[in-house]
Amino acid sequence: MSIEVPDGLKEMLQDFTVEVLRNQPRDLLEFALQYFAQLKENRSGLSSSSVQNSTTCRPRMTVNFNEEAMQVDTENGEDDEDDEEELIAPVVNRFIRRASVCAEAYNPDEEEEDKEPRVTHPKTDDQRQRLQDACKDILLFKNLDPEQMSQVLDAMFEKPVETGEHIIDQDDDGDNFYVIERGTFNILVKIGGEERLVGSYDNRGSFGELALMYNTPRAATIIATSTGALWCLDRVTFRRIIVKNNAKKRKMYEAFIESLPLLTSLEPAERMKVVDVLSCKVYGDGERIIAQGDVADCFYIVESGLVRITVKRGEVSLTASDSRCHGSPLHSASEEVDIAMCARGQYFGELALVTNKPRAASAYATGTVKCLVMDVQAFERLLGPCMEIMKRNIANYEEQLINLFGSTAAITTETA
Ligand code: CMP
Ligand code: CMP
Repeated sequence: MSIEVPDGLKEMLQDFTVEVLRNQPRDLLEFALQYFAQLKENRSGLSSSSVQNSTTCRPRMTVNFNEEAMQVDTENGEDDEDDEEELIAPVVNRFIRRASVCAEAYNPDEEEEDKEPRVTHPKTDDQRQRLQDACKDILLFKNLDPEQMSQVLDAMFEKPVETGEHIIDQDDDGDNFYVIERGTFNILVKIGGEERLVGSYDNRGSFGELALMYNTPRAATIIATSTGALWCLDRVTFRRIIVKNNAKKRKMYEAFIESLPLLTSLEPAERMKVVDVLSCKVYGDGERIIAQGDVADCFYIVESGLVRITVKRGEVSLTASDSRCHGSPLHSASEEVDIAMCARGQYFGELALVTNKPRAASAYATGTVKCLVMDVQAFERLLGPCMEIMKRNIANYEEQLINLFGSTAAITTETA
């Protein structure tokens, strides 16, 4: 006798699992009751306020992974999000922030900028040191050769920043690319005519590359929320060096990127934008790429080698008093246990970015490993349409952990 799986069951359970992983409710049954009550309420079009106002384990609803919310380019989709605004959890807002960035086909070989004289801003030793520190983790600079990097550093100039200062206004023309030395900044995007806070920078990172890369108006407004300091790179130098470098990257990674199952929902032009923001990092055998419990700021795709994923057994959950833990205490507290291997073409490090939580596992290089790395802003801006595939994998994580430990409660969330 064949058993028929009702339509929508799989998706419903996947959504629920993701919410459980995200919320880590203490009382799973209570959470489930609230979650499905909310789901029903939403489906029948009733007001959602009662559940929104409840305090414990508030389900954030399936709208979190609503395909519409994940759609690319909500620029002109004025109304759809309005009714749901209150319902959409912060994590969703992080993904609907996708700005319109039309993919201008560019041919750097035709750029007139190459004929321009080189820009140099003299610097003191102290300034150069501070600049180098600020630039060392900037992904867009990672693939530059030493000569290109030195030209970039020569061309950059310092800009002190006051609280409240508008560094960039959406829709303006792009003048500079900015690297943060210190200070905090809000990112605002107009969605349906209304300016919304979609993220922030906290004393690190860079912004202002999109208008320069694609010759488009600024896609967001950036406002300083503290005093600070920025390093600026003029448009001409940016295009001469970074954009040209991106063209090389596109050639190098085009075939690989096209082959990734994760990115199948992206248009070819969008996949190329993914290449533009990726940078390659190499790790030695045994090197830790991600530490469980750390704050997350990157997403990884394995280009070559093997990446070992491990989790720590939690001390608390190994005690008999925790009724949720069915795992046998075979391992000592905090021992790291292998849970998965990622090979070429596979990805990791998405979970913490999706859930806005600390890293759920650690990742180590097995042999020499090359990863393509993307920062959180680019991940959110570009990979919304790939969320369905990620969501499926996230649902598998719990199964993996249950198979290994008998319960996900056996996993500690302590910092590494
Ligand atoms: P640019 O469009 O040149 O100027 C605004 C910058 O804000 C943009 O480049 C990105 O560097 C940055 N930014 C950060 N988050 C977003 C976002 N969600 N949408 C658009 N731009 C963003
Ligand atoms: P993140 O939590 O950001 O960092 C660690 C990564 O390990 C995680 O994202 C996933 O990409 C990956 N991972 C693989 N298997 C699991 C699992 N069973 N549980 C948690 N994370 C896993």
